[in-house]
Amino acid sequence: MLKKVPISELKVGMYVLLDLAWYEHPFLKNEFRISSKSEIEKIKGLGLTEITIDEKQSIISDEASPPVEEEATEEEKTPTIDTSILLEVLKDKAIEPEKKASLIRLHSTQIMKKLFEEPTRSNIKEVKKVAAGIADCIIKDDKTTFLLISMTNFDFTTYNHSVNVGFLALALAKSVFANSPHHDLQELGAGFFLHDIGKIKIDNAIIQKPAPLTEEETLKMRRHPQLGLKVLLEMGFATNEARLIVVQHHEKMDGTGYPKGLRGEDIHPYARICTVADVFDALTSRRPYRDPLPTFQALKLMRDEMVPHHVERKLFEQFVLLFKPPE
Ligand SMILES: [Fe+2]
Repeated sequence: MLKKVPISELKVGMYVLLDLAWYEHPFLKNEFRISSKSEIEKIKGLGLTEITIDEKQSIISDEASPPVEEEATEEEKTPTIDTSILLEVLKDKAIEPEKKASLIRLHSTQIMKKLFEEPTRSNIKEVKKVAAGIADCIIKDDKTTFLLISMTNFDFTTYNHSVNVGFLALALAKSVFANSPHHDLQELGAGFFLHDIGKIKIDNAIIQKPAPLTEEETLKMRRHPQLGLKVLLEMGFATNEARLIVVQHHEKMDGTGYPKGLRGEDIHPYARICTVADVFDALTSRRPYRDPLPTFQALKLMRDEMVPHHVERKLFEQFVLLFKPPE
């Protein structure tokens, strides 16, 4: 039997039916049984006040019986793997896209976290290796690509954000450059994953501040593109792709961005692609001072308020199409 319940009364085990279009929520299906508290948090992030549940299909413990064991999070139930194993898995056609996407997300988040904690040459090399493998997968496999961009993580840590931007920007680059031999998606992937590497040189108190930044802090934060170039040069990793992305990803189409105030065509397409992904992920991630926007609302806000002066119109239109499930 279908029944409406307030969002605050959601419980693990309830079978929910989302009365939303596919692009308005981050789940794979419109109806499913809630398996963890983190799914409840994601549903709360959709901005609904009540939700339809199917009581017949719900399995909820009552107070008399032992509580439903909360299912382990994706991170807890998926084992840690080596990069070499991930690369093998990605090539294996027998492994389903859901598994591949979940392993890619887990492993890339782990290695990015490690890089931001210990920015060593070997950790940056590892990121480059993984980014190249993910780029290959994104080139060949539309289903896994769709899952990767639909399952971006809401938590706004620098490493989660880097991973989300890596997937989104790679998917957009694939669609923009199609099969052009003039662009190296593997190098581009590494550049996208590393776009914010300059933040390792910024005070953690600013990076993790649970409130909007003051003017002085904003000025310090705005140094991260040039600091990023410095890091790339120090680590011997300043490829053309990474350099352009790291330095130009905060430029805006109307010339009001930073560090140089470049405009339009003067901003390299690689950086313009990164900007679209960067802005989208900032809007769809949770901050201590604001809730994440669902996909549809973030795209609408970008269309209404950021195109074409911040984000390039043509790229934005191609970006929107990425959220359409593959046939
Ligand atoms: Fe940035």
